[in-house]
Amino acid sequence: METREARIGIIGMGYVGLPLALLFSGEGFRVTGFDIAADKVEMLNSGRSYIVRIPPEAIEQARKAGFSATADYGEIASMDAVIICVPTPLDDHREPDLSFVVGTVKSIAPHIHEDQLIVLESTTYPGTTEEIVAPLLESGNPAGLKVTRKPGDRGVHVVFSPEREDPGNDSISRNDIPKVVGGCSTAAVELAAAMYSAIFRRVVQVSSPSVAEMTKLLENIYRCVNIALVNELKQLCMRMGIDIHEVIAAAKTKPFGFQPFYPGPGLGGHCIPIDPFYLSWKAREFDFRTRFIELAGEVNAHMPYFVVEQLAAGLNEHSKPIKGSRILVLGLAYKRDIDDLRESPSLTIIELLRERGAIVEYNDPYFRQVGQGRHYALNMTSTPLDSIGSFDAVVIVTDHSSYDYAAIVRDARLVVDTRNATKGIDSPKIVRC
Ligand SMILES: NC(=O)c1ccc[n+]([C@@H]2O[C@H](COP(=O)([O-])OP(=O)(O)OC[C@H]3O[C@@H](n4cnc5c(N)ncnc54)[C@H](O)[C@@H]3O)[C@@H](O)[C@H]2O)c1
Repeated sequence: METREARIGIIGMGYVGLPLALLFSGEGFRVTGFDIAADKVEMLNSGRSYIVRIPPEAIEQARKAGFSATADYGEIASMDAVIICVPTPLDDHREPDLSFVVGTVKSIAPHIHEDQLIVLESTTYPGTTEEIVAPLLESGNPAGLKVTRKPGDRGVHVVFSPEREDPGNDSISRNDIPKVVGGCSTAAVELAAAMYSAIFRRVVQVSSPSVAEMTKLLENIYRCVNIALVNELKQLCMRMGIDIHEVIAAAKTKPFGFQPFYPGPGLGGHCIPIDPFYLSWKAREFDFRTRFIELAGEVNAHMPYFVVEQLAAGLNEHSKPIKGSRILVLGLAYKRDIDDLRESPSLTIIELLRERGAIVEYNDPYFRQVGQGRHYALNMTSTPLDSIGSFDAVVIVTDHSSYDYAAIVRDARLVVDTRNATKGIDSPKIVRC
């Protein structure tokens, strides 16, 4: 690791894996990216990018430093370290879907070798690394390799290290985000610490993979619960005629014991709406109910419905029903200035409005077109903003910074603002919710 001779394989060239591959490459490692998506492999090998905030030049630069992508798991055998960054979604019953992790581990098991480091970065419930990953690696390799568990053991070293990226947040460099690592053995955790300290200024070693897995879930549940709290208080404040944003701005002047969270149209992204339910599922095995998680989930899941109610009330003032009204949804991404719409509240809001008979269009500078995903079928094209005046209402769901909110309010007939994006603009056309 210190001499950068170690070869690093990263499995899953998505929002987590690709930036990580570029970071290691930038530090002088020869990196191989593995992905089952043939189009991604092809794009990377021809120096192209499919993630907006990663410019093609960054891929090209990494390629010059030896980076390449492949779908061939046989190449795992020539890696010294393998980092798994595949999806961990929920299934249709909102239970953990570990099929990507299991599929990956089964595919690499025949190719692993002694002293290799295998790290799982995908967010998951405590126990996954020790109860699923390690046994599958042991049972799947013909050489009978074992996972190291105590000092002196020979075999493959297995670690869990959660990803802590915050897409779109440029206030902190990735290297300054401490990296938590928990291994099946001391040797494993020390090896992982040596690897990650090439990138991260601080590596935090914990006593087991389960502690590292739980750390990630605590971080995300903390956000989920606090967002639910402000979403609930926002609804109360609206009834009481109090501006929740003014309250939060005042509360955050307290120099200790308070961290601001902001209300919105509901949760989005691959993490906060999903990860907490990995824990509530696992908790059932221990005959335990995670009531905070369930309550937060309930409050947050209701938010898109609340937005639609507020829109209906706004249209009512114009003597219009939702049915037949033309509605423009601003922003598909789940948060500002990113090109990721996974679990975005916009998708639910569009679906609810369509069910109620509205004619819905959207605008999002990051999505010129949108087709079908696992949970949605939009098949729409982004509507230019110059037609705003022809819509009965505009709903700001994502507060992209490229939008000119004063112009939007000026041109629209009715604006439902779920993000406080029109702060400071005084107009009777605005419904803030
Ligand atoms: N996106 C984030 O901001 C973020 C932040 C923290 C943690 N995470 C966690 O990181 C993990 C990955 O998330 P992501 O956002 O990068 O997902 P993603 O969907 O962007 O990328 C996953 C990639 O894995 C590939 N893949 C799936 N199965 C594979 C297999 N068997 N072999 C090889 N490649 C395979 C997919 O084709 C895809 O390119 C998840 O567990 C997520 O919860 C994500």
